[in-house]
Amino acid sequence: MNDRTNLVDRITGHRRMRRNRKADWTRRLVQENRLTVDDLIWPIFIVPGSNIVQPIDAMPGVNRMSIDTAVEAVKEAADLGIPAIATFPNIDLSLRDETGSNSLAADNLINQATRAFKKAVPEIGVITDVALDPFTSHGHDGILRDGEIVNDETVETIARAAVGQADAGADIIAPSDMMDGRIGAIRQALDAAGHQNVGIMAYATKFASGFYGPYREAIGTGGLLKGDKKTYYIDPANGTEAIRDAALDVEEGADMLMVKPGLPYLDICWRMKEAFGLPVFAYQVSGEYSQVKAAAANGWIDGEKVMLETLLAFKRAGCDGILSYFAIEVARILAKGR
Ligand code: PBG
Repeated sequence: MNDRTNLVDRITGHRRMRRNRKADWTRRLVQENRLTVDDLIWPIFIVPGSNIVQPIDAMPGVNRMSIDTAVEAVKEAADLGIPAIATFPNIDLSLRDETGSNSLAADNLINQATRAFKKAVPEIGVITDVALDPFTSHGHDGILRDGEIVNDETVETIARAAVGQADAGADIIAPSDMMDGRIGAIRQALDAAGHQNVGIMAYATKFASGFYGPYREAIGTGGLLKGDKKTYYIDPANGTEAIRDAALDVEEGADMLMVKPGLPYLDICWRMKEAFGLPVFAYQVSGEYSQVKAAAANGWIDGEKVMLETLLAFKRAGCDGILSYFAIEVARILAKGR
């Protein structure tokens, strides 16, 4: 008889959580959530030109690619089983203006890229953003008039841009601009143009976050942006407002919902999944990616372990999938069966 065992058994009443953790095989048996390649959406950055692979300083391991090199990368993604990519353009400064007019050009960089991907890799889903920030000279997501991002005129523009993106072959339109009424307007415009099968993934709850910094370097808006985006993105303090905002997107016809950024907003992921039952995605944004890479580069954390842990956390929080710059790296690891 061992007195210490008796003491613990008296305290725990023989309930011992560690029995299920005792071996690799028990841990595998009781594992509640799993990350698979089917959960991944890979965001990529496109630049004009050819044969270009341009590292992004603030996002170690992520490159801007010209369409031809991106096609090869997207082929690899498809071969690994990644279901979809999300594309973001970094267009010439000379093409950016006050109203983001290049977003409406049928042959703009993003539409050229979509055509190339759909032609070369038809089995992968292409998700495009209609926010105006890559196209405006001021880096805001909408049209700027007298110091204000005007809502309704912006919505008209992005609904037209959405039709152009669908014409180019985009499978899902994902508006990240947070204008009011945009989901309904995009749905109507798509349907009127015969694009009933093109879906909408609403950036339903996009927060006015500090985590977007490296992305702005990636698409070249970092130096352009004047002021902040607080008049259209959600205050990080507000969870209930976020759910209300998502509810409007659901009413207006969103097929899928997204939470952005990801890890600091897992409560919102969970609440959205509970509230609507629609597929919910998290966008693990640039700053989330870069902080893992930076800490790993310093030897402060095990980068691969933390990367996988963050992605699994999204699954536990109820997400159906994750947009992540880690997608290709993770897909390679998953393919090796680890
Ligand atoms: C703007 C947009 C942002 C991101 C994608 N589209 C935010 C912003 O620049 O304000 C961020 C993505 C990331 O940080 O990875 N429409």
